[in-house]
Amino acid sequence: MKIIRSVSEMQREAERLRVAGRKIALVPTMGYLHAGHESLMREARRSADVVVLSLFVNPTQFGPSEDFSRYPRDFERDKAVAAGAGVDVVFFPEAHEVYPDGFSVYVEEQEVSRILEGKIRPTHFRGVTTIVAKLFNVCKPHVAVFGQKDAQQAFIIGKMIRDLNFDVKMIVAPIVREEDGLAMSSRNVYLSANDRANATALYESLRFAESEIKQGETTVGKIRESMERMIRSKGAPAVDYIAFLDPERFREIDRITIPTVLVALAARYGGTRLIDNAIVRVKSS
Ligand code: PAJ
Repeated sequence: MKIIRSVSEMQREAERLRVAGRKIALVPTMGYLHAGHESLMREARRSADVVVLSLFVNPTQFGPSEDFSRYPRDFERDKAVAAGAGVDVVFFPEAHEVYPDGFSVYVEEQEVSRILEGKIRPTHFRGVTTIVAKLFNVCKPHVAVFGQKDAQQAFIIGKMIRDLNFDVKMIVAPIVREEDGLAMSSRNVYLSANDRANATALYESLRFAESEIKQGETTVGKIRESMERMIRSKGAPAVDYIAFLDPERFREIDRITIPTVLVALAARYGGTRLIDNAIVRVKSS
């Protein structure tokens, strides 16, 4: 497994692989790898000849009062996880090379980036689309793998690929969960034991929504109210949103009239924000 730290060296390596006819899959991450990230690496392994994993805690997607400086980092452990998952190249750039002095060009999606996560974190998606566009230019992948865990992020990156004609095929891999249903996240390490136990209510509320929708409930307001009650009754976290969306357009709906619905939520336990979601097919087949 190669470790590459410089942008120009990564570009040379990617070009060399392309000229040799190798298909490149990129898995962008911020490190502190867990089983969710590993599932993306395995997906990448199945989809291409060479797997490039990027590890970069991207400063531009964190707001001024967010957790950039305390975001968990463990390069030695990440290296071992990557090697175990069959990664060929780890791209682990230095921040000053990715964002040199005077950096002033950003990539910005201007609709979906403003709702839900984007409403609470106004510059977040601009940071995400900018770094992902840069990673595409540096790692030159044919395929890039993202997780459904960050549903809005995946939608916006898909939109960026289409709107800006990036020649990259996107794969979105399913959410990997802990045994008790909590969606895996690098941020779960911030949770106190109490909050960790209470946070299982998020997935339980999504399962509840799924069963209501499948049983024919069409009023979003009713389902949302019960979900909020379920979540708040365990540890009383602050619920930022519970949204029902058309997954094709990422627009909120207030009645269930479409065949597939995305239910997405965010809640804060102490200082830790957790997000989760479920894609619900209205009629079970
Ligand atoms: P990070 O949070 O490290 O996540 C990297 C990738 O892993 C994302 O595509 C995310 O959706 C996916 N992922 C995280 N938890 C998952 C889980 N439990 N199951 C499945 N996939 C999961 O998302 C980012 O980093 C950054 O915004 C990035 C895209 C790298 C840009 O900086």
